[in-house]
Amino acid sequence: MTPTPTSASEERGPLRLPRIRRYTVYFISIGTFVTGALWLYYHYFMRKQGQFGFQNNPLESLWQILHAGFSFAAVWALGWLWTTHVMRGWNMRWRRWSGGTLVGASIVLTVTGYALYYIGSRQWREWTAIAHWAIGLAALAVFLIHWLSKSLPHQRDHGPYPWPWHRKRHPVERR
Ligand code: HEM
Ligand code: HEM
Repeated sequence: MTPTPTSASEERGPLRLPRIRRYTVYFISIGTFVTGALWLYYHYFMRKQGQFGFQNNPLESLWQILHAGFSFAAVWALGWLWTTHVMRGWNMRWRRWSGGTLVGASIVLTVTGYALYYIGSRQWREWTAIAHWAIGLAALAVFLIHWLSKSLPHQRDHGPYPWPWHRKRHPVERR
């Protein structure tokens, strides 16, 4: 029989990201954010008025290439965290609001980012781009709340799932 854990730290297992995983997640999240924010800054504040309209700063395309690269890594990182971190944290009912919002934002960013490649209509593309970067900028605040939160796991008798027939069946007890 598996011994019943006595403290939250024993239960959380790989939910607390091991160092290598934690630094990889920081690197990819910060890289995605910074390259997206730099693209925005260069696009709106570093372009020049030329003879035939606005001329983009040459660095803008570098930020775009790097952002696309980091965003592939971000999709991969979400998959990497899925079972050990996201599902485990969710089942423990711990940091669900900030974590769930982060996952939701990542999914919307992936869908809108993908759409930016293929939307033909100029007007739709503009609105999709605004939604994409507005959610992207806001995601930093959610990430910081999630990361720096001092929350503790909910009481065990809340059970891992909201539905009553699963009450008392904690993931650790089911092992
Ligand atoms: C429903 C989704 C999620 C839930 C329920 C969740 C839950 C948690 C919990 C409970 C902790 C505290 C772990 C501990 O101190 O042992 C935590 C920390 C953390 N989470 Fe999440 N999380 C979710 C999604 C995410 C996502 C998508 C990311 C990445 C973008 C992320 C990144 C982090 C980071 C960087 C920490 C701090 C790690 C550390 O200090 O070791 N989480 N999360
Ligand atoms: C999971 C996270 C993200 C994914 C998967 C993602 C994906 C993408 C993709 C595929 C593009 C199109 C690139 C191109 O046209 O070559 C894009 C563009 C862009 N992204 Fe993201 N992105 C993410 C997060 C962010 C964040 C956090 C920000 C804000 C800081 C951001 C800001 C932008 C901007 C400003 C553009 C250019 C919009 C335009 O072309 O008008 N993205 N993103």
